[in-house]
Amino acid sequence: MAEKTGSQLFKRKPLELLLEEMRGENRLRRVLGPVQLTALGVGAIIGAGIFVATGAAAHNVAGPALMLSYVVAGITCIFAALCYAEFASMVPVAGSAYTYAYATLGELFAWIIGWDLILEYGVSSAAVATGWSAYAQSSLSKIGVTFPLILRESPWRYDAVTGAFVRTGSWLNLPAVLITAIVTFVLVKGIKESAGFNATMVAIKVAAVLFVIGVGVFFVSATNWHPFAPFGWSGLSFFGHTVAGQVDPGGKPVGMLAGAAIIFFAYIGFDSVSTHTEEAKNPQRDVPMAIVISLVLCTVLYIAVVAVLTGMVRFDRLDVNAPVSMAFKVHNLGWAEGLIATAGVAGITSVLLVMMLSGPRVFLAMARDGLLPKSVFGVVHPEFRTPWKSTILIGVFVAVLSGLLPIDSLLHLTNIGTLLAFVIVCAAVLVMRRKYPDAPRPFRCPWVPVVPMLGILSCLLLMFSLPTENWWRLIAWLALGFAIYFLYGRNHSVMKHYSENNR
Ligand code: ALA
Repeated sequence: MAEKTGSQLFKRKPLELLLEEMRGENRLRRVLGPVQLTALGVGAIIGAGIFVATGAAAHNVAGPALMLSYVVAGITCIFAALCYAEFASMVPVAGSAYTYAYATLGELFAWIIGWDLILEYGVSSAAVATGWSAYAQSSLSKIGVTFPLILRESPWRYDAVTGAFVRTGSWLNLPAVLITAIVTFVLVKGIKESAGFNATMVAIKVAAVLFVIGVGVFFVSATNWHPFAPFGWSGLSFFGHTVAGQVDPGGKPVGMLAGAAIIFFAYIGFDSVSTHTEEAKNPQRDVPMAIVISLVLCTVLYIAVVAVLTGMVRFDRLDVNAPVSMAFKVHNLGWAEGLIATAGVAGITSVLLVMMLSGPRVFLAMARDGLLPKSVFGVVHPEFRTPWKSTILIGVFVAVLSGLLPIDSLLHLTNIGTLLAFVIVCAAVLVMRRKYPDAPRPFRCPWVPVVPMLGILSCLLLMFSLPTENWWRLIAWLALGFAIYFLYGRNHSVMKHYSENNR
């Protein structure tokens, strides 16, 4: 019996079965071409990270060295992106890293990664909705519209000076809850409409970023880049024990590397392109291409934006809520401030859209495999062809989190969950190359095993540069996941019955 259980946990879903399932009923519509996919990638990437998190990261954690933090985080993501791209071209079905893990590492790892991806998409959507709220309120205040204090933000906020959480006087972040409800409605209506809406938003925010770089560069003063790394170059701790660098009064690591672990958030999203494989017209070619192009494009833009921002305003005077628009205000460019704040709102909306689009598709893949109840998570709406029930469920989860929690807590938790998913994907590429050396790979990750190994190491490094409590939160989330798997998923697994019938 024990042997049977053990073998189910590591049971892999054969590649042929995955491809066979693609021909089944209940499929999503194949409507996305290469430009739309790249737009989905950029749509998921440029958002609250660069527009919001950059301010606090430069101010409290890294200083102008945040430029290098963006380089470190960008390189880490490129390693992971190359691994994602190989998988997306090999296993072109919905579910992203979850499906890849099922094909390579077995059911238990697939469950862990699927459960972890729900955390990534759910919590990051909440972080993004919170960032959206900050920018929307700053734009609205320009036309005299303000929310009452009790409905403006999370009831708590982290104070980097004292290192403690303080009450804000607010009860609920109402704008964050409202935008979540609107995006959920759009997503239930359908992928085609969502992608069109996203493309417009992407155009606006790329224009805004180019504007920031093109205009801001004339206001850069090199003296603002000194000191370059006021918090040092590292920031590494192991379960509360400082390994390298400094900590803030709350015991959280600071420094260039700690900055990279935080603004890693700004790159999250490229992986979500792979969750749309099933809706792509030509998945083998277009999905890997869209992942790599969107990531490289954003890396270059980010580094330029941070160089300009920290050159325009000294790091310790950067605004922590709306740093990009405020930097222009400091230089008396009020007209540009309003323009950027509005574009920021549009940009962040498109991130929320893609993030909230991705979670239900991972649920859908897990439900098809019997690991979650099909009646809720596996249902595709007969008219809209969208996984509507799980979209609404995730919408409620995101609304609650974004209404009540501060952005930094949400951001850290997202990062640690995503980094874990990346570690597993990089490891899975190595396993897959061994197990299926001859499987067709329309896109091959270069320099295997070096790239996947560097991906694993760099992700682990960033995980240990995050405040320790995030490890405990991640472990608690995974423990809940294990409970669900052992109580439900293991017994309802389609692969369990598949293996019994094929014995
Ligand atoms: N990369 C996304 C953002 O910065 C999550 O908003």
